[in-house]
Amino acid sequence: MMPEATNSDLLLPRRTQAVDGWTLHSYSTLPSTNPVAGALPAWHAVRADIQTHGHGRTGRTWVSDAGGLWLSAVLPTPGPRQQWAILPLAAGWAAIESLRKIGVTGLRLRWPNDIMAGRRKLAGLLVEQFHPETAVIGIGVNVANQPHRTDPALGNISITLDELAEHHRSLDELTLLLLRAFRDMQLALLHNGFADMAGRINAHWTRSGLVELSLNGREAPVRGSFQGIDAEGRLWFTDPGGSLHTLEASQVALLREVD
Ligand code: BTN
Repeated sequence: MMPEATNSDLLLPRRTQAVDGWTLHSYSTLPSTNPVAGALPAWHAVRADIQTHGHGRTGRTWVSDAGGLWLSAVLPTPGPRQQWAILPLAAGWAAIESLRKIGVTGLRLRWPNDIMAGRRKLAGLLVEQFHPETAVIGIGVNVANQPHRTDPALGNISITLDELAEHHRSLDELTLLLLRAFRDMQLALLHNGFADMAGRINAHWTRSGLVELSLNGREAPVRGSFQGIDAEGRLWFTDPGGSLHTLEASQVALLREVD
């Protein structure tokens, strides 16, 4: 009789390979790539064809069907933790820049972790710190998958890279592109500083529209205009009277664009 597969048997990678300074572990199916990456040292990355419990910020479900890119990369984050507060935004910026290099233009960031094509979401990021010295950048990119088949509500609000790009890009090619971009972004943060990165990130917002912020511990959302971020990842926001407010990212539960 065949012995029953245990959880750890099921969590063995299909392939582990060296990729441009990274060690990439590829799995067929995982609950989520982020916690698996969280147990690994810096410069390791984890990819899965399918995630059964893909999730985003505040525990929201992230549909992770076959054909999309579900990737988590472990970056070193030396020094004080607070100075890396900008990392989730810098990772989104790096992903947009890398996609621009392969001809996918016109993407924008929506605070804090969405990569948008117009009003539709192409990709989302979830950055988690499992250890003080490293951070896991989890990114999900809709590529050739069909998230609306799992959740019809995603039909109007998500978009795939195949719909945007001139021709299909393989998941291997995109993995390499993103891992390089995350490495270069980490180096840029260390060498050029966090203020320089904030300036680059601020070029990618749509700042004109009205937004609604749900603040932790406050019932009524506040409306106003999102102005960008500072070097510590704090939000700048003007209220309808024109007064400027600075908010810690941790104070903001949700930012919603108001039509
Ligand atoms: C969001 O939009 O709320 C963030 C979605 C992040 C999804 C990625 S896919 C790889 C990694 N594993 C997860 O469970 N989440 C991230």
